[in-house]
Amino acid sequence: MPRSFRSNGQLPRPFIKWAGGKGNIIGPYEEKGLLSLEFKDYYEPFLGGGAMFFHLWNKKKIRKAYLSDINKDLIDTYITIKEHLNELLDALKVLQNMHSKEEFYKFRAEFNELKTRAELSEEEIIRKSALFIYLNKTCFNGLYRENKKGEFNVPFGRYKNPKIYDEENLRAVSKALQNAELRVCDFEDAVKNARAGDFVYFDPPYMPISPTSNFTSYHQKDFTIDEQKRLAKVIENLIGRGVYVLLSNAYHPDIRALYEHIPGINFFEILAPRYINSNGKKRGPVKEYAISNYLPGQKTLTLSF
Ligand SMILES: C[S@@+](CC[C@H](N)C(=O)[O-])C[C@H]1O[C@@H](n2cnc3c(N)ncnc32)[C@H](O)[C@@H]1O
Repeated sequence: MPRSFRSNGQLPRPFIKWAGGKGNIIGPYEEKGLLSLEFKDYYEPFLGGGAMFFHLWNKKKIRKAYLSDINKDLIDTYITIKEHLNELLDALKVLQNMHSKEEFYKFRAEFNELKTRAELSEEEIIRKSALFIYLNKTCFNGLYRENKKGEFNVPFGRYKNPKIYDEENLRAVSKALQNAELRVCDFEDAVKNARAGDFVYFDPPYMPISPTSNFTSYHQKDFTIDEQKRLAKVIENLIGRGVYVLLSNAYHPDIRALYEHIPGINFFEILAPRYINSNGKKRGPVKEYAISNYLPGQKTLTLSF
């Protein structure tokens, strides 16, 4: 079994549970020497729960960060933590005290009403962010999923006294975000301004490798093979510009084929523990690719090709 990495209780750490969350592969990535790089600015265009950002921040590697994701409610929540932490904590306290199955469904309906409205006031965005965290911590399996209409549709999860938030962690998250720019955008747009010596970590929805592993619905628009091809082009272009790139993806020949021709590219096998599969028997470690244009242990800004 690969060792799972729990950042030794260090804060900040992810404040939500996210499908494909990378908390469990940081350990293997460190062991392979893939995270010793020194870089200028940091980009993470598939942010999700942000496990890599928090890890690198704890290692004091991050000066300026550009964090983004296509999921607007997720990014609104990060922005609320960054800019309105005390109001958010007040709202979370109330939700924590009111929690029950009945209230869960009322809060879910309220969240869906807010998320589909064209314009929200600052107060409403704070409320939506509190509901986002609350639903993540109380829904079944603690994951975020939307239906085709863009509504959050995960049912009630039967947790005994779920802890909805950790104030100390949210304070640490807020501090870490002060030097970060947060944007709702597509990955291609997110990295347009990356320059030589910057570092981009890409953690896209993985290409499904079996019919039971097709979890690509974080958002109503699925991440198809054409999206994987578009991503490979973006990565090739960044590498050509001297940007350091690290990509996590499924261990699949079709993924390898998209990158093999790029000069200086390296493929690593990572054993990742998996918890998202609802079939308990299939929760063993899964092989994945880590793909980079720098070498293990490489620290300096000299490129490897
Ligand atoms: C595998 S998850 C990232 C998990 C994250 N590394 C973590 O530790 O939690 C993939 C993320 O990509 C986002 N996403 C999907 N399509 C996207 C796109 N076209 N551009 C930017 N983000 C996208 C999803 O909303 C999701 O948060």
